[in-house]
Amino acid sequence: MKSTVNEIRQRFDQDVERFSNLETGQSATIDAPLVLDLITRTAAAVNPGATRALDVGCGAGNYTLKLLEVLPDLEVDLVDLSLPMLERARQRIANVTARAGRGFQGDIRDLGFEDGRYDIVVAAASLHHLRSEEEWASVFAKLYHALRPGGSIWISDLIEHSNPKVQALMWERYGEYLAKLKGESYRNDVFAYIEKEDTPRSLMFQIDLLRKTGFRNIEILHKNSVFAAFGGVK
Ligand SMILES: C[S@@+](CC[C@H](N)C(=O)[O-])C[C@H]1O[C@@H](n2cnc3c(N)ncnc32)[C@H](O)[C@@H]1O
Repeated sequence: MKSTVNEIRQRFDQDVERFSNLETGQSATIDAPLVLDLITRTAAAVNPGATRALDVGCGAGNYTLKLLEVLPDLEVDLVDLSLPMLERARQRIANVTARAGRGFQGDIRDLGFEDGRYDIVVAAASLHHLRSEEEWASVFAKLYHALRPGGSIWISDLIEHSNPKVQALMWERYGEYLAKLKGESYRNDVFAYIEKEDTPRSLMFQIDLLRKTGFRNIEILHKNSVFAAFGGVK
């Protein structure tokens, strides 16, 4: 049985510190600092005049803080299941900008946004908590409608592979990365919570879904082992 939304929220409530380092990003993610940089600079390159953004599953605010480095006048609305995460994000963001956006504590599946409100949407390491195909389709559609025409979405996330042999190889490589980073018991802990909590989809599933939802100019910015960064334009 996979974790419920409540269980996911409770785990993240206890894990704020791990998501509060802008230099390393979340170190359990391969290439975390590179991807933070790629996603945020690409968003700024595609929408240089952006004034409003949405950070889905903002955690402690790393992606918003990086966005503000390249687009200092941006107002970013934050979404997270976890109140302690949201509070930490708001504190850190208040240190660098007076243009605080709105904070929504809740499940992205249940929230509604004004049509065409945002120039940029980022979703980092959050969408892999979605379960059924219908949930994925409805969240992608919701984010599409929340963007203005010409606005862009940028996603970085854990992914799986449709070929089981490729999946096994990529998983083994990820295990080697984790064991080298902090030892074998750390690897086992991370694998256990992924098994319990996460339902990632393949990069191809997500690219197809972006296209089906209506996005164009779809780009893959990075893919390494079981992580990818990609996005597109409305
Ligand atoms: C792995 S953390 C990543 C945080 C941040 N984006 C980063 O990259 O540093 C995932 C975050 O997504 C949030 N989250 C998970 N499922 C969510 C959902 N269904 N709706 C909103 N937030 C969610 C969690 O509470 C957590 O803070």
